[in-house]
Amino acid sequence: MTTSEQFAGRVAMVTGAGSGIGRASALAFAARGAAVGVCDVNAEGGKETVSLIEGAGGNALFLHTDVASGDTVQEAVDTLVTTFGGLHFAHNNAGTYAMGLTGELSEAEFTRVVNVNLLGVFLCMRHQIPRMLEAGGGAIVNTASVWAHAAMPTQSAYVASKHGVAGLTKTAAVEYAAQGVRVNAVSPGYIDTPMTAGNPPDRMAVVLSRQVIGRAGQPEEVAAAAAWLCSDEASLITGADLNVDGGYLAH
Ligand SMILES: NC(=O)c1ccc[n+]([C@@H]2O[C@H](COP(=O)([O-])OP(=O)(O)OC[C@H]3O[C@@H](n4cnc5c(N)ncnc54)[C@H](O)[C@@H]3O)[C@@H](O)[C@H]2O)c1
Repeated sequence: MTTSEQFAGRVAMVTGAGSGIGRASALAFAARGAAVGVCDVNAEGGKETVSLIEGAGGNALFLHTDVASGDTVQEAVDTLVTTFGGLHFAHNNAGTYAMGLTGELSEAEFTRVVNVNLLGVFLCMRHQIPRMLEAGGGAIVNTASVWAHAAMPTQSAYVASKHGVAGLTKTAAVEYAAQGVRVNAVSPGYIDTPMTAGNPPDRMAVVLSRQVIGRAGQPEEVAAAAAWLCSDEASLITGADLNVDGGYLAH
């Protein structure tokens, strides 16, 4: 079986697929033969991802999806099932952040971040899992972060939401293992994407000093891990949280 046949006949949903890690993931699933639902609030970025997939000979559909809204998530899942005949894989990856000390961050900003990063992952799994059960099984990967496992000052909403993603992932994994739905997380370290592009150099220097591999990661390196976790090669793996972090959490 060639790589392009690995996910042939399967359908994948990727959120935050209009940029960065999500775009790389959508391309990775498509390159392995899956039809891909490219979900994002950013229509321009999402449609560009679809063009990249189609240009490489793959099959994809842009779905305008706000992961913080159950209605649009359900609509995206339903459209994918209607269009491509089922749902087998999901990479729940959309994310955002807000900076501010815990004693200063506004309630609105905290809520906005938690609604996208944590409620969004719940809403995606809430609507994806029943469809995967209908398909006889499936695999989900949620994007957590090294900050699902450690503190980062000025990032309380982000850190709290990502710790929540780690807990949701383990819980769903235990709930659905016997029914053939595997649920794992990836925890990226510092990855070169539009999200990190605006970081001040001193902050980047601190983070990269911990990422002992000595460089930032590339979105494709996280995407490869997500696709592998969904593949049959990872058939025994559920409830895991794979650090894709150049050794950030190893010390
Ligand atoms: N870049 C890193 O260093 C890093 C490290 C650890 C974890 N992560 C996580 O990886 C994921 C992807 O981040 P990235 O670095 O590729 O960032 P990015 O900003 O390049 O991409 C994030 C995408 O999510 C989309 N998005 C935001 N809110 C949304 C919503 N409500 N509904 C649907 N889509 C929405 C954005 O439009 C964007 O296309 C995030 O969950 C982020 O927290 C990133």
